[in-house]
Amino acid sequence: MRMNQCFNFHDFRELARKRLPGPIFNYIDGAADDETTYRRNTAAFEECDLLPSVLSGVEQVDLSVTVMGQKLAVPFYCSPTALQRLFHYDGERAVAAASASYGTMFGVSSLGTVSLEELRKKHSSPQVYQFYFHKDRGLNRAMMQRAKEAGVNVMMLTVDSITGGNRERDLRTGFSIPFRLTFSGMFQFAIKPMWGINYITHERFKLPQLDAHVDMSGGALSIGRYFTEMLDPSMNWNDVAEMVKLWSGQFCLKGIMSVADAKRAVDIGCTGIVLSNHGGRQLDGSRAAFDQLAEIVDAVGDRIDVMMDGGVQRGTHILKALSLGAKAVGLGRYYLFPLAAGGQAAVERALGLLRAEIERDMRLMGCTRVGQLSRDNLRFR
Ligand SMILES: Cc1cc2nc3c(=O)[nH]c(=O)nc-3n(C[C@H](O)[C@H](O)[C@H](O)COP(=O)(O)O)c2cc1C
Repeated sequence: MRMNQCFNFHDFRELARKRLPGPIFNYIDGAADDETTYRRNTAAFEECDLLPSVLSGVEQVDLSVTVMGQKLAVPFYCSPTALQRLFHYDGERAVAAASASYGTMFGVSSLGTVSLEELRKKHSSPQVYQFYFHKDRGLNRAMMQRAKEAGVNVMMLTVDSITGGNRERDLRTGFSIPFRLTFSGMFQFAIKPMWGINYITHERFKLPQLDAHVDMSGGALSIGRYFTEMLDPSMNWNDVAEMVKLWSGQFCLKGIMSVADAKRAVDIGCTGIVLSNHGGRQLDGSRAAFDQLAEIVDAVGDRIDVMMDGGVQRGTHILKALSLGAKAVGLGRYYLFPLAAGGQAAVERALGLLRAEIERDMRLMGCTRVGQLSRDNLRFR
């Protein structure tokens, strides 16, 4: 299969599976424990149906939305994900360029492999910086200052990763940074030599968001140890309130799921929340963001921008989330598999297919603007 024979998420996933060594494919594709939340994330969209209106004159369709003060040409954005250089040698460069060409926002992870400054200089589309909270408060302040100076538009604090999820596929293959592969993991790298050649012949693997502050070089600190030794499990609402104040700009919490927490996010001055279970990679058994969306929108939707991510594979999934009141929807694996399958061109193709799906589906729904989608357009079975 080639890239131009990929027409949807599943095709790109298959192509990524063919191109990537098994441990890396499974790092992307896997989730926590029994992966029930991972499966539920997509299944949740299938429990309600769209109810179209007809004969409404749908010649021109406007897909743009405004979220956390950022104007996006499409109602989806590329959520921050770690280690993109491992999936394709262009890593975040490819995803940022593809996002920019569709006029949408992209996230740069604290565990990103290209510097937030480089991406900020190159693209004018809105940039999110995804942040973890460190024990060293000075380090938190320095990293926020650095993001501010770079011109990051939105600060996104991930709050669902106070400890690492139990990803058993990674335990089986030995996937970690630096690599500590099991024998079968090594064998799976050996049978994908093209990945290895590309990995060796391109720029060295780096974690530039952290390297300047923490010695991650030469395997001095593994990512597992970074999570257990450097991140602060005592992080609480007062700490975050201080960060929000210090940032004094667009600030959102990623991984909010309860109404009570959503209200606290409003109280401490956040401008956005992302309902998310980290793609099922953290707490298995936790609720799908789509299942929880209406409750949260009803409670705080008039005071804060509510977004969601998890399990999005189709334009209709996005239309359903927008109908329930999400301001925009985040993508994870939807763009990661294309990245692995064919770099920037494949991410562009995938985002283009999604945009075309949404535009077509909006017409079929009888809507010309995202704001026209409402709960009248949905029925739960
Ligand atoms: C391989 C991978 C790495 C990720 N890395 C991060 C990360 O560094 N920070 C973060 O906040 N979320 C991270 N996420 C979660 C995504 O931002 C997003 O919440 C999730 O992928 C959405 O689910 P989906 O993949 O089903 O679309 C990661 C997800 C994947 C699949």
